[in-house]
Amino acid sequence: MLNIQIEKTNQPKQKPEPEELVFGAVFTDHMFVMDYEISQGWHNPKIVPYQPITLEPSAMVFHYGQEMFEGMKAYKGVDGRVLLFRPEKNIERTNKTNDRICIPQIDEDDMLQAIKALVDIDKDWIPNAGGTALYIRPFIIATDPYLGVRPSNTYKFMVIACPVGAYYKEGINPVKIWVETEYVRAVPGGVGEAKTGGNYAASIKAQMKAKERGYTQVLWLDGVERKYVEEVGTMNVFFKINGEIITPELTGSILAGVTRNSVIELLNAWGERVVERRITIDEIYEAHKAGILEEVFGTGTAAVISPVGELNYRGDMITINNNEIGALSQKIYDTITGLQTGAIKDEFGWTVE
Ligand code: COI
Repeated sequence: MLNIQIEKTNQPKQKPEPEELVFGAVFTDHMFVMDYEISQGWHNPKIVPYQPITLEPSAMVFHYGQEMFEGMKAYKGVDGRVLLFRPEKNIERTNKTNDRICIPQIDEDDMLQAIKALVDIDKDWIPNAGGTALYIRPFIIATDPYLGVRPSNTYKFMVIACPVGAYYKEGINPVKIWVETEYVRAVPGGVGEAKTGGNYAASIKAQMKAKERGYTQVLWLDGVERKYVEEVGTMNVFFKINGEIITPELTGSILAGVTRNSVIELLNAWGERVVERRITIDEIYEAHKAGILEEVFGTGTAAVISPVGELNYRGDMITINNNEIGALSQKIYDTITGLQTGAIKDEFGWTVE
């Protein structure tokens, strides 16, 4: 149990209007900070007013990117309760990422306590209009002032939060996706399954390439054969082909998304046929040709569900489901957001007050 020191702001900020909310641009009044040193472990937990932090320019995070982050949301429930969605999944993944990039493990109960404490102090920031939430960003950075390449001996764990609207300006409307054949997101044995900033830095070039061509994001192919589908933008991806729902299996280069897992569990509960297996881009195009590619959608914490309306693979453009939101995509979106906000009774035990 952490003994969190709390310093409340005496200059609360103006909260944005719900209709003005974009993703990740406005931050709440407070932040959680905790330090790590080898001799003391994680210590000095505190909540302070949201403010800049001071680091040495030589801090290791600036040079070698030893950093991890998580993303989760808090919702103002229909009955006024504040709900987190499967926070234990993000916390478990935090320690998996930490292990992969040699950041010390963090106590799971302490991390949940930190998140709950920050959400509680800033609960008035949780928007409750449809499609909005409080996005919570826990992260850890390496802070040793040192330029040799090795794990840092000191770290900062922080949690910041922001009221958010839709991740894509399209909201739940279908997006256009560029199938990327030049750049890859991750390779076997790499860090693709870790939630570390470097993965996202390495993805921006392809995202920009897609944008220049009029596409919202890219479909990532595997780094070895460039034929198996891995992810879509920053999200996991699902295909509905001839009544069966397929998502790439977790081979090590794919992030184990919390929404991905929730979608699989939901589909199983609904008695749908859902399989995790490798799937090639050719199989998807063949399914389209045969008229059995019914729906394609991305899943992630930020956007929840993002239907794909169009794919472009080497100049071959296909339209999926008439560029409309598929019935399954809509049903999953409504169910997950319903569970998250408490509008639908949570029989899975996913929400945490
Ligand atoms: C997601 O929730 O889809 C993410 O990957 C987080 C994103 C803002 C980088």
